[in-house]
Amino acid sequence: MVELTQTGIDGLDEILNGGIVKNSTTLVSGNPGAGKSVLCLQYIYNGVEEFDESGIYLSFEENAEDIAQAAESLGFENWREHVENEKISVYDKQVLLRENDFSSSLELLLDDLGDERYERLVLDSLTMFQLFFESEREKRTYLLKFTDILSDNGLTTLMTNEQGTSFPDSDIGLENFLTDGNIFLLQTPTESGVNRYVWVAKMRKKNINTDIFPMEISEGGLTIHENASAFSLLSENKSPL
Ligand SMILES: Nc1ncnc2c1ncn2[C@@H]1O[C@H](COP(=O)(O)OP(=O)(O)O)[C@@H](O)[C@H]1O
Ligand SMILES: [Mg+2]
Repeated sequence: MVELTQTGIDGLDEILNGGIVKNSTTLVSGNPGAGKSVLCLQYIYNGVEEFDESGIYLSFEENAEDIAQAAESLGFENWREHVENEKISVYDKQVLLRENDFSSSLELLLDDLGDERYERLVLDSLTMFQLFFESEREKRTYLLKFTDILSDNGLTTLMTNEQGTSFPDSDIGLENFLTDGNIFLLQTPTESGVNRYVWVAKMRKKNINTDIFPMEISEGGLTIHENASAFSLLSENKSPL
């Protein structure tokens, strides 16, 4: 029986047939503004609030204060308290780039991951993370070391992947062998704003619903709606939990 980690996100755990495979790495891809960071904040916050699981939030995009403000804007009002109590450990880009060279910062981080207090990890974003390596070889070496350490320490990981014109897909060739799952967040502009969707394209070792579902971002974070056609499929497959 495969153990699962629930995201606690309304609708997403149902699409995933219960949750993400524990100890796996899932890539969350989408354009800027698609909701990747919101999903990740929610995953880490719900971990502490609902499942008593501690989390590590690595961000190459924002500093710790911006992250706390984003969390509070979503109504995650205990974010700072969890950070103070070390239930959530935030490594922002200032911390991650503190040492003279990136490999030294990374070594420090890898040491911290080894202390087994954490169940969940977010890397926001894999795209930026990869840009810090000077050579292709160094990048591969560290990414492999990194994912090994994550799985050796029982961490269930989300890594975000920035899609868009400034980051050609060919830059992220490592993604497929590094990750066990793929979640895409999509957005299309409309007259009144934006329509948002989520698509779980892959989850190794797991039967999932690969339909595309509409979603919303508001206070509380992502909410995923059951679309009419997906709903019947979902109810047929639903196992009594
Ligand atoms: N507190 C909030 N209330 C409503 N919408 C929000 C809130 N915070 C973020 N959003 C929406 O979520 C979108 C996606 O944000 P984000 O997750 O940061 O995108 P990205 O995929 O680039 O990481 C923002 O553009 C904004 O429209
Ligand atoms: Mg982001």
